[in-house]
Amino acid sequence: MHLAAHFPGVNSTTVWTDPRSRSQIEFSSFEHLARTAERGRFDFFFLAEGLRLREHRGRIHDLDVVGRPESITLLNALAAVTDRLGLAATVNATFNEPYELARRLATLDHLSAGRAAWNVVTSSDAFTGENFRRGGYLDRADRYTRAAEFVATARELWDSWSPDGNPRPFAHRGRHFDIAGEFTVPRSPQGHPVVIQAGDSDEGREFAASSADVIFTRHGTLDAGRAFYADTKRRLAKYGREPSELKIMPGVSYVLGDTAADAEERAAVIREQQVSPQNAILALEQIWGRDLSSYDPDGPLPEIDPDPGSDVAQGRVRVADPAAVAAKWRALSQQKGLSIRQTVIETTARQSFIGTPDAVAAELHEFVRTDAADGFILVPHLTPGGLDDFVGRVVPLLQERGVFRTEYTGPTLRSHLGLAEPVWKG
Ligand SMILES: Cc1cc2nc3c(=O)[nH]c(=O)nc-3n(C[C@H](O)[C@H](O)[C@H](O)COP(=O)(O)O)c2cc1C
Repeated sequence: MHLAAHFPGVNSTTVWTDPRSRSQIEFSSFEHLARTAERGRFDFFFLAEGLRLREHRGRIHDLDVVGRPESITLLNALAAVTDRLGLAATVNATFNEPYELARRLATLDHLSAGRAAWNVVTSSDAFTGENFRRGGYLDRADRYTRAAEFVATARELWDSWSPDGNPRPFAHRGRHFDIAGEFTVPRSPQGHPVVIQAGDSDEGREFAASSADVIFTRHGTLDAGRAFYADTKRRLAKYGREPSELKIMPGVSYVLGDTAADAEERAAVIREQQVSPQNAILALEQIWGRDLSSYDPDGPLPEIDPDPGSDVAQGRVRVADPAAVAAKWRALSQQKGLSIRQTVIETTARQSFIGTPDAVAAELHEFVRTDAADGFILVPHLTPGGLDDFVGRVVPLLQERGVFRTEYTGPTLRSHLGLAEPVWKG
């Protein structure tokens, strides 16, 4: 089983109202979580990315006001205070250039002695694009052709120095990039940093099958996980790859308790903290596309239908069919007699694994044993101490079951993941 730690920052999972929550900007927070993950012998530490502060009805979203530092810079600093832990940065393939990014990732791989990973994301929306000179003009259909060419170009750059330390000129002439010259960074310890893909569409899965080492997915239930696992692993053969060459790791959260009832009780409290009355209305407005600030979070859902053309929430993945979501929420609320807030709590609950440490360890094992996942990217709800109890109470049980390492066996992230170093194509 592979395990990674997601630093919980700008999202709807982190419970900022909890007195134990600390800064998501100060280095000490990142250091705490990374050291905990390394103590637990995790494969890697993971940072998401957002290139524009999200907005809601024209105002910066509450959860984004705290901000987010730049990932690769941060991971270079973490490389100095950790020893074996992999360091994964989410970096966008739409708003960057291959030469510069390949250089920064190869540098991270050198400075960390072979622990760098790149999570390739492809957001292309015009809202984010406004922060960049190029603007948000990449069509949805072109996102993955650019991403695939971006990764291929980065690999050419990483291969342009021979393993014995000689630079060679490179030339890449393609649809999105036409570059030539010499790369400034010698071949790095892993040859190529580990490549992770996050994105769920057919094109995204195909891109992962052709080019990625790991997939970060949201399929956190057993059935959805198995279907996704089978579908993506099946695609590998077309690219001459083995199923073991692509690891599937859903992002999941967890709540531990001394008994099953205790864990459920804690989970309910956390859900209430995550969906404050104000956040409940905000979640509703994101579906309805309307100003619903006059509604009572403890009252019934609005009678009024969603506005299909409106986009009150900028910088989030849009809901494809707001009318269908609204209908589903209404049916649930009527059936169970739920208020607005209770409906949002039910429909947006993010705790995937709830129970005693023993039960959670057994359930995680079940996912891996039955091909629903190769491992997990754990998203704690507290920054930065949210991983402490998992490492203290669940990891030893996984180790006892013999499904998780007790010591790192190799120095690099590729070795933790059981991935070969890419063959040098000089
Ligand atoms: C699990 C997961 C995590 C993601 N994390 C990020 C992120 O941190 N930053 C980002 O800009 N996009 C992120 N994305 C968005 C994807 O890169 C992509 O833009 C989006 O999923 C739409 O692509 P798709 O149609 O292939 O799913 C994430 C997507 C998934 C599925």
